[in-house]
Amino acid sequence: MGKKNIDWANIGFGYIKTDYRYVSNYKNGAWDEGALITDDTINLSECACVFQYAQTCFEGLKAYTTEDGHIVTFRPDLNAERMMDSAARLEMPQFPKERFIDAITKVVAANADYVPPYGSGATLYIRPFMFGSDAIIGVKPANEYQFRVFTTPVGPYFKGGAKPITICVSDYDRAAPHGTGHVKAGLNYAMSLHAIMEAHRNGFDENMYLDAATRTHVEETGGANFIFVTKDNTVVTPKSDSILPSITRRSILYVAEHYLGLKTEERPVAFDEIKDFAECGLCGTAAVVSPVGKIVDHGREICLPSGMEKMGPVTQKLYDTLTGIQMGHIEAPEGWIHVIK
Ligand code: PLP
Ligand code: COI
Repeated sequence: MGKKNIDWANIGFGYIKTDYRYVSNYKNGAWDEGALITDDTINLSECACVFQYAQTCFEGLKAYTTEDGHIVTFRPDLNAERMMDSAARLEMPQFPKERFIDAITKVVAANADYVPPYGSGATLYIRPFMFGSDAIIGVKPANEYQFRVFTTPVGPYFKGGAKPITICVSDYDRAAPHGTGHVKAGLNYAMSLHAIMEAHRNGFDENMYLDAATRTHVEETGGANFIFVTKDNTVVTPKSDSILPSITRRSILYVAEHYLGLKTEERPVAFDEIKDFAECGLCGTAAVVSPVGKIVDHGREICLPSGMEKMGPVTQKLYDTLTGIQMGHIEAPEGWIHVIK
């Protein structure tokens, strides 16, 4: 079998069904051995805990074809650990780290024909998720769960690819202090849907959420963390207990410091500081590194000096180095690249 006949360069961030998915079920206190299956549908009770009380969490990572033709994933151990943290916060059983990595390996290998070729601009997005599957009507955790991983080839998350986007400061909050913002719970995304649709209706690409308690500090967007660059080339990223600990952001901070020799700061970022920054970008598995050209706060425009035409120079270097590591033409730090085949 060869690569599927897909117009890799022109796909967006959408769902394309692939041939195999991995499923393991949890019952009577234990996960079963798990298997690859071909059925992309799920048959559940109408009263399944996931439908009634949104007991579900997920992960997102990508498989890449490297320059020398291998298929690899990027730091899947960190996705496994984050999913364990999400599960614990939602009173779900944890799916063991080694089994998570094994499931990713198996499902990507089985769908190898869907992994976009090197240089195509597309990648294979991997979506592990878990949900409470038995009937629950009183508010309590499920007794039975399913862990599942599917894949889908994807292109850029934002339509323009590397073109700077315009975002707005949201009137809605994404996460409360001591809430679930730091884990990848489905509920965080359900409550962001109205906010993102409002942003789109008002002509913006994304929302900037501020901290819910004081609305003075930058948190993140609905699906990515922020990175800022100061006028003297320091990479600054917001620190908060209510944002998702992005694996891309943690990797970028390492790359900035150890590959590019830049100063980095992970600290609370006041909204009032933004006007003084030189560059702004969003980072995440789906977003990769997406430049932000303009931030609009209720009609007040903050235009980043890097402009609306292209990425700022430091953001570009971070993007090139990170994607170079992922695609295998820059040597990766020990343990970052997991070779599938
Ligand atoms: N923040 C949110 C809310 C996200 O959904 C994501 C995506 O996973 C990220 C940040 C970026 O995290 P990562 O770099 O691990 O994909
Ligand atoms: C990811 O980047 O993997 C996410 O889960 C974010 C989502 C907005 C697609």
